[in-house]
Amino acid sequence: VTLTQQTGEHPQTQATESCINLGMGQPSPGLLPAAELAELAGARIGRDPLLLQYGTVRGAASFREALAAFLGNAGPWATSGEELMVTGGTSTALTFASQQLARPGQRVLCEDPTYFLARSIFEANGLEVVGVPVDRDGLCTEALAAELARDPGTAALIYCMPSFHNPCGVTMSAPRRLELIELADRHDLVILADEPYNLLSYHGAPPAPLFAEDQGRGRVVSLGSFSKILAPGVRLGWAQASPALLARIAGHGALESGGGLNPVIAAAVHGLLESGFQAQHLARLRARYARTSRALSEALRRHLPDAVFVEPAGGYFTWVDLGLGPGSSTSALLERARAAGVSYTPGARCAVSADLDRFVRLSFSFYQPDELERGVELLARVAGAHL
Ligand SMILES: Cc1ncc(COP(=O)(O)O)c(C=O)c1O
Repeated sequence: VTLTQQTGEHPQTQATESCINLGMGQPSPGLLPAAELAELAGARIGRDPLLLQYGTVRGAASFREALAAFLGNAGPWATSGEELMVTGGTSTALTFASQQLARPGQRVLCEDPTYFLARSIFEANGLEVVGVPVDRDGLCTEALAAELARDPGTAALIYCMPSFHNPCGVTMSAPRRLELIELADRHDLVILADEPYNLLSYHGAPPAPLFAEDQGRGRVVSLGSFSKILAPGVRLGWAQASPALLARIAGHGALESGGGLNPVIAAAVHGLLESGFQAQHLARLRARYARTSRALSEALRRHLPDAVFVEPAGGYFTWVDLGLGPGSSTSALLERARAAGVSYTPGARCAVSADLDRFVRLSFSFYQPDELERGVELLARVAGAHL
């Protein structure tokens, strides 16, 4: 009996037979490489019993070297194991980074809209989250500069998604990336660049992680994850930064006490990196999501011709202004949509302080083109009554 059969739902999701949930930012179940992982995990663990000891705090050097080689082949940038630290995925990395690089009461400046669950991680660690607008070139650095000047000395961190933003789908332009790092340098801030999607590029080479622009200044921590390129359940990712900045994060008591994160799974994933499976899998995902992303955009143009969106060139999400009539909001419409058989993430869920209630975040990672088409058709029918 699989988890799905036990619960009647996909674990950790709200996908049910009766509702197409376009809000769900998970890989499609058919793309999860269970057989390959099982085969390599067993073989690796059997080969080295020391793997079952506490792991080294930054992760096994051999794994970090294999990861550096994979990342170096995936795009036009080089890195080394010295600039990498193994994490238990980005969510844990954000927790450790907020506790090590900021003090409760300090501010985190982030895009508005942002990844809503990161916001709750910062708030749980006593940090105040302040929103800065984002447009089709990514985080607006001019507005960021104004915010930093308005209240100097109170911020510790900038949190951003430079590539294939969640929820907006946009990628930060090259000049803005440089301005962002300049600002961080001037105001003595660390940038947490959350980059789970940069390798999932659908038109050409992936954008480089922001760390590639750091140029030894020690301002950027780029956070990568296997959640979107392999499987969320492996709970494995990496932080890429200068060795000095990584040492500050690695000094967290939980890491000193418990050792490196997830060494057994890292060993299994090491096998997938070495065998070339991860690179091939990434190529498959890029082809698949390029197709589903196009299908979602086409369905939007067909069924909601007045909706406004930037067609994403990578990642998982499309951010759509439904242009509902006065007095209507996508939050208010959600119950009716669900009853009609479609769900989504209302824009307000992703907002920090801006009014984003006319937007929805739609994901194209979970469903096949025909399901996306059906979902958008249902959404158009519900929204149509409110235009
Ligand atoms: C921008 C962003 N950051 C982090 C995460 C979660 O990362 P992880 O699974 O590595 O904890 C997600 C997942 O949706 C995400 O979209």
